[in-house]
Amino acid sequence: MSQPLDLAVIAAPNGKPTLKDAWQAQLERWYAHPGLYRWSLGNPITRWLTRRRTRKLFDLMAGFVHSQVLLACVRLDLFRTLQQAPADLAELSHRTSLAPSALQRLLLSSVALGLLEQRGHGRFGLGPLGVPLAQHEGIAQMIEHNHLLYQDMQDPIEFLGNAWRGGMADYWPYAHAKPASAPQAGELNKFTRYSELMAASQGFVVQEILSSYYFGEHRCVLDVGAGRGRFVSELAAHAPHLKFKMFDLPPVLDLARENLRSKGLSDRVSLHPGSFLDDPLPAGADLITLVRVAHDHPDAVVRQILQKAYDALPQGGTLLLAEPMAQSEHESGSNDTSVDAYFHFYLLAMGDGRLRTPQELMTMMAQVGFIHVERVPNAMPIHAQILLGRKSKCLPC
Ligand SMILES: C[S@@+](CC[C@H](N)C(=O)[O-])C[C@H]1O[C@@H](n2cnc3c(N)ncnc32)[C@H](O)[C@@H]1O
Repeated sequence: MSQPLDLAVIAAPNGKPTLKDAWQAQLERWYAHPGLYRWSLGNPITRWLTRRRTRKLFDLMAGFVHSQVLLACVRLDLFRTLQQAPADLAELSHRTSLAPSALQRLLLSSVALGLLEQRGHGRFGLGPLGVPLAQHEGIAQMIEHNHLLYQDMQDPIEFLGNAWRGGMADYWPYAHAKPASAPQAGELNKFTRYSELMAASQGFVVQEILSSYYFGEHRCVLDVGAGRGRFVSELAAHAPHLKFKMFDLPPVLDLARENLRSKGLSDRVSLHPGSFLDDPLPAGADLITLVRVAHDHPDAVVRQILQKAYDALPQGGTLLLAEPMAQSEHESGSNDTSVDAYFHFYLLAMGDGRLRTPQELMTMMAQVGFIHVERVPNAMPIHAQILLGRKSKCLPC
């Protein structure tokens, strides 16, 4: 039996086909025409379109090979090795203990994917996509972690029938309809494991928030689902006037305590262990942040968290919610909706949360009472999109 999950809000059909429907049906007929492929290759513009479409389809088919090439490079530590200095096949074969003939396939595949580049004298160096992999440990950790997801998805139909049988559901102890507050003995290492991964992978998200939102008018920030405190630590350096509160499950805040102490932040940050399923959020902050938290949970829990955030804020207080959201193909500058496919499956394997559109989250925020709910534009929505809501300055009559 499949797990109980929320449905995304998709515009309800009103029965009548629209002009867009008619246009899409016409396009489909053209695409299906047996002569189109040959005809399109005869003209430079249509040839370009057909090549692009064929290439996209090929990439979809080959995606598994591409991610395995990436994983092999990470496991062999090729990016960091080649950042130090380009190396030739013999040298890399010696370092990796792989036969030159096999390793060469990996290196040439990596060149084809833009991860590596061929340099003079038969050497290999970093390609444009390999550079960030050498610099950001968090990306390499996510690539290794994704292997768990791909193992779960080995048989995609079986996975859709029962997504929580595999390693991902086990990795995330709080994410599938279980009370989260009391970890079982032996489960503690799971909290450490995911908290370390989250801290390592949060850098790009933190950068998006710090460069998009002005914190100058706030006094105290409560970060809910704060993890080990990477966001709080970086915000503390960015805005030295701020005080902080962190709310998360007790075993996670035990890890955060040590981290904050080592950064000399213990005096500026108070820790509030608890579960937002069972406990209220602490009052006293004029800004509450929810970073990569809502998408882990079903709609009912998200409403509960938003309501608790609303209740904990003073009049005029602000909520900032940041996480990956469904990318809208109608928006200018972003028609790259393919990242959505990754998050739909990742969140399904993890538990009962889901990827939501900014509009869905904004509606939920308005439903619990937030006003002036808006999007904060940011440069790299692939990492996270940012929403703001305010609690009215006036008491309700
Ligand atoms: C995906 S992690 C995000 C952590 C951090 N905000 C970040 O972006 O790296 C979600 C966080 O929510 C916390 N969390 C999950 N369920 C919770 C609950 N019921 N009460 C409090 N925190 C919870 C987890 O422990 C985890 O630290």
